Amino acid sequence: MTRQQLKELCDKITLEEKIGMVHGDEFFATKGVERLGIPPFRFSDGPMGVRLDYREDEWIPIGMTYDESSYLPCNTAIAATWNRELASECGRILGKEARGRGKDMILAPGVNLLRSPLCGRNFEYMGEDPCLAAEMVVPLIQGVQEYDVSACVKHYALNNQENERMSVNAQVSERALRELYLPAFEAAVTRGGSLGIMGAYNRFRGTHCCHHGYLLDEILRKEWGFEGICVSDWGGIHDTVEAGNVSMDIDMSVTDDFDDYFFGKPLQEAVENGDVSMEKLDEKVMHILYVMNELHMLDGKRNPGGYNDYRDKEKLLKAAEEAVTVLRNDKGILPLAIDRERNEGKTVLVIGDNANRKHSVGGGSSEIKGLYEMTPLLGITMAAGGNVKVLYERGYEADTNGNIWAPSGNGENGQADSLNSDQEQPAQEHKPDELNMEMAERALKAAETADYVIFVGGLNHDYDTEGRDMLDMRLPYGQDELIGRLLKIRPDAVIVLQCGTPVELGAWADEAATIVHVSYSGMEGGHGLANVLFGLAEASGRLTFTFPVKLSDTPAERFASERESEPIKGQTDYLEDIFVGYRYYETFGVKPRFPFGHGLSYTDITLDAMDVKQDQGSDQCRVRVMLTNRGSRRGAQVVQIYAGKEQSTVKRPAKELKAFEKVWLAPGESCTLTFLLTREQFAYYNETEKKMVTEPGEYQIMAGISVENIMLTGSVTF
Ligand code: BGC
Repeated sequence: MTRQQLKELCDKITLEEKIGMVHGDEFFATKGVERLGIPPFRFSDGPMGVRLDYREDEWIPIGMTYDESSYLPCNTAIAATWNRELASECGRILGKEARGRGKDMILAPGVNLLRSPLCGRNFEYMGEDPCLAAEMVVPLIQGVQEYDVSACVKHYALNNQENERMSVNAQVSERALRELYLPAFEAAVTRGGSLGIMGAYNRFRGTHCCHHGYLLDEILRKEWGFEGICVSDWGGIHDTVEAGNVSMDIDMSVTDDFDDYFFGKPLQEAVENGDVSMEKLDEKVMHILYVMNELHMLDGKRNPGGYNDYRDKEKLLKAAEEAVTVLRNDKGILPLAIDRERNEGKTVLVIGDNANRKHSVGGGSSEIKGLYEMTPLLGITMAAGGNVKVLYERGYEADTNGNIWAPSGNGENGQADSLNSDQEQPAQEHKPDELNMEMAERALKAAETADYVIFVGGLNHDYDTEGRDMLDMRLPYGQDELIGRLLKIRPDAVIVLQCGTPVELGAWADEAATIVHVSYSGMEGGHGLANVLFGLAEASGRLTFTFPVKLSDTPAERFASERESEPIKGQTDYLEDIFVGYRYYETFGVKPRFPFGHGLSYTDITLDAMDVKQDQGSDQCRVRVMLTNRGSRRGAQVVQIYAGKEQSTVKRPAKELKAFEKVWLAPGESCTLTFLLTREQFAYYNETEKKMVTEPGEYQIMAGISVENIMLTGSVTF
């Protein structure tokens, strides 16, 4: 339909019908206008798959089998692949299944920046760098939308903490907002073409994000030209007239008094008495009709989507493999030298609760009733094969009763409770650090005689969870003590840490020869991990966030602890400003445990040469990087291009990621990558001129395989 036809359709809708379209009539759907052929609009969470269905007006799962779905790698894991094609494949699976289940908008992906390792929801986002997040979110969204399902990038904006998330006021400079916190949202909308965006719960400069004229009208609609649907986070609207008068289109919430939602009867009254104009309401309806039209909801030509096939399983396995990040492999213990074919009678001892735990059912609204979930223990057992004996010891006790979210809705009021703003979730208690001695001793005893020892611990969705943050970065359940003792007996033990946010390594940190990081990587997660450990797949994941040595090293903590003024209750001041993640560690000379972008391969791919060419007076430069696989295995490298400006009139991070590419090379193979960088990519946000500005002068160009490991440097002058 043309814009004119949509307008004509809009004109036929009565006030009451329009009101039905702009607020929830069920927990996950609005009302349609049957007489005009306008269907209801149906939502589902995201991002780890299409969420199980709840009853329309009670937080009780429908309890059927048709809402099982593929369990996808969480966004942190997808980003850790640094592989745009895999992001797009994951998006396609999500879109296809969402559409198959009759959904119109999938509430994903999430791109809030990892500002502090303590944020409970970091696993749902794409790490600490705006360029990486922007590059990965675009293909993911495009993949979803191929199936006539709208993506919904969330949570716009600055939902960087879970504690007090319904009310906290994020106080952040315009520069940090523009350079760090908005680019991934902008890319999602302008390049990814996301048809949906979700307003965040928190406040920004005193105003709730769902009421925010500057965020919604000025930036989103005017600057970025967004024409799609802006939906509130569930319960994110607090005032009818304020939210009604900005470009917030749909009011969704968690209570069953649908007519009384802010955009229900109250909005109808506000329109009737002129507090919100009919024009403003029409704008909202037009956004909804525009998206419906784009999704072919009005013309009967819609992609049916549907069930995934065996090839999707392969793609999810590939994503799970490429998300595995080998952080340390000092003695070349990985890949494990196990001969699957011959019956060597060898034993592999697997220790740790995460080896045997399924994570799909946890985490909050991203919970999934997965088709299946391969645990690391199952993956390792299959990868080792029947000629090798796999033994399991839990080693420590993970008491996971603390999950505030009722996994699969077993709690009394499920999501509603966790969202009631008057009853904020209690802050996470300090993590339990008592080691269950009986379990530990059994594991340590078994470790004495096993041929190979693999520890799989880390966090779980009691910590990596919606609704609350962590109080510290340490490993729970006494794992540090267990790992320390294990490494004394078995210095060759492989330590796998599964977590969606960086953790602090205990006193054992320097003792371990082999450390691997993996996030929650979907239903093929355990399979992918095992394949990498056994060398059946190559190690190719890279960190999307810095692993700091300790919490007090993190910029958010450091600046908060050094502040002189009294903090204001209910407000978080982003005192570190533009120095988030590696931008801080690199600029302030704070050595992290593992740097951003780091990850080892099983082969040796080095960057040999770089040239930076800029045509006279041109506004762009071409960076060519030559690399060679000098090892004896096929493998991947992620070439990362950073820029810096030593002579600058404003403060600037020492390095900022500008481009990257993942390449696979056979032994002995070389290749040349070309990156095109435009002048705009070197800009900073000038608060006086209120725009991005590229200062004239020389910029350093650094090519490396992590933000720390820069192998080649050059420069360009604009
Ligand atoms: C979460 C959103 C989610 C919504 C609907 C909220 O609690 O913050 O991410 O999409 O619930 O379940």
